[in-house]
Amino acid sequence: MRDSKIIAVVGATGAQGGGLVRAILADPAGGFSARALTRDVNSAKAQQLAKLGAEVVTADVDNLDSLKRAFHGAYGAFCVTFFWGHFSPEKEIAEATSMAQAAAYDGLQHVIWSTLEDTRKYVPLSDNRMPTLMGKYKVPHLDGKGEADKAFTAAGVPTTFLLTSFYWDNFLQSGMAPKRGPDGMLAITLPMGDKKLPGIAVEDIGRCAYGIFKRGREFAGKIVGISGEHLTGAQMAAAFTKALGQEVRYNNVSPEVYRSFGFPGSEDLGNMFQFKRDFNEIFCGARLPDFARSVNPSLQTFEQWLAQNKHRLPIEQAARA
Ligand SMILES: NC(=O)c1ccc[n+]([C@@H]2O[C@H](COP(=O)([O-])OP(=O)(O)OC[C@H]3O[C@@H](n4cnc5c(N)ncnc54)[C@H](OP(=O)(O)O)[C@@H]3O)[C@@H](O)[C@H]2O)c1
Repeated sequence: MRDSKIIAVVGATGAQGGGLVRAILADPAGGFSARALTRDVNSAKAQQLAKLGAEVVTADVDNLDSLKRAFHGAYGAFCVTFFWGHFSPEKEIAEATSMAQAAAYDGLQHVIWSTLEDTRKYVPLSDNRMPTLMGKYKVPHLDGKGEADKAFTAAGVPTTFLLTSFYWDNFLQSGMAPKRGPDGMLAITLPMGDKKLPGIAVEDIGRCAYGIFKRGREFAGKIVGISGEHLTGAQMAAAFTKALGQEVRYNNVSPEVYRSFGFPGSEDLGNMFQFKRDFNEIFCGARLPDFARSVNPSLQTFEQWLAQNKHRLPIEQAARA
């Protein structure tokens, strides 16, 4: 659309950024257009976004010049980092710093930075309730993002700091999906005790980001948090039971047991869930569904997400007797 405000979207072929690109393109009269950043403009996902109407450009968050080119002429940018691609908080901080610098270089009017808490403000390294990881972090994939907030402030870019939530879409991965125990019963395993886990359909993160851009710079300089619902493990298990028509239990393990599972990142995630459990009121209070719904009226509940996605769950068939 002529004269529309361009939003440069980092991670456009991925979960968060993809949701934002689709939200922008679904609202052609909204006054915004989507510029999708990707390392490979020829990939199937990039081509699909081009077909939907996005401008697709090459950029790598590890290359400042490529970010400057990709942000040039844009009104705003959505910035996200990819911890699970490299497992390095230092790299996330460097990438966020490059994005902030590129946004400042081109005088962008509004950036949304997809961030999370620096848990060390609540659990200092001296607090032995959870192990210190990688020498100076409690929850590396949260702490690095929280530490990187100051890069946007230092660059002087009007930034909305967007606290995201656990993607319910994680349940579509075999590691997290309801699994059969030795008794043949399905269960989800989380170390949350009886505390509530804020969760969200990942597509709604992008939709919320779009809603935030549409509100002008109302939230610039502020921390805002989003989730679809806050649910206990038992409540999620009950929702799975209803959706699947077979019993799904909540396997409540301790954070120590979760950390010991031994998959890449299990210690980081064990610490993360413990942080969410031990600081539950603060963590839930920072990401209210009411706020998310105010910027994204189509925000899904867990039940709605399940109805749409239950056929994609990798559930093993019950063994025949
Ligand atoms: N899983 C959860 O529950 C959860 C919850 C909250 C926050 N998070 C955070 O979400 C972040 C990941 O976001 P996501 O889930 O949207 O990612 P994602 O779906 O894994 O998407 C990653 C996309 O980023 C692009 N990418 C990767 N490395 C890049 C680079 N060097 N330069 C430019 N683009 C690059 C890739 O696109 P191309 O290949 O096209 O370049 C890819 O499509 C993580 O840091 C994680 O900690 C996750």
